[in-house]
Amino acid sequence: MKFFVDTAVVDEIRELYDYGLLDGVTTNPSLIAKSGRDFKEVIAEICTLVDGPVSAEVAATDFAGMVAEGEHLAKIAANVVIKLPLTLDGLKACRHFTNKGIKTNVTLCFSANQALLAAKAGASYISPFIGRLDDLNLDGMELIAEIREIYDNYGFETEILAASIRTANHVKDAAMVGADVATIPPAVIKGLARHVLTDKGLEQFTKDWAATGQTIL
Ligand code: G3P
Repeated sequence: MKFFVDTAVVDEIRELYDYGLLDGVTTNPSLIAKSGRDFKEVIAEICTLVDGPVSAEVAATDFAGMVAEGEHLAKIAANVVIKLPLTLDGLKACRHFTNKGIKTNVTLCFSANQALLAAKAGASYISPFIGRLDDLNLDGMELIAEIREIYDNYGFETEILAASIRTANHVKDAAMVGADVATIPPAVIKGLARHVLTDKGLEQFTKDWAATGQTIL
């Protein structure tokens, strides 16, 4: 499973990239607003740090506007992925970019039928929003499983990018039902490494090692 980080904060991306834990980055207009940075400037900076796909979302909601903005964003760097909303115009724009060989991430997916349409539009990634479905007492993970089955039935190459991940269990469950990628907030990625028994065990090993009086180097 590939890990993307869901943030527009460059320092957070750099830290995780240095740990070797990142395959790519996703951003959205809310994350850009939270970063307080200029959108195109921050995308360009992220693309210099990360070789993997970096999703940059269009702001327009009409086909012509999405195409104009997406083509502009695609010029920032070769690894920019154009993020488009799951609307009819967004799907049309997806087909436009796919035909031009530009990668796309179709976002705001909340149903299997929407995901089917995105695959038919040639999307590189489909982003089902797990957490926002769970917020409504619906089952985000069931959606990922349904999409997996549909895509496998027909050999669609669109990658399932589990988004709106809020917890470590979301990451594990998405991996178990076969999501290709998870885009994860930085704190959740770091939390995956933590376990109280790891901390306790390490503390004991460190203490026992010190008692031997030995050194390795
Ligand atoms: O980038 C899309 C998605 O991951 C947003 O997550 O937590 O705002 O629902 P959230």
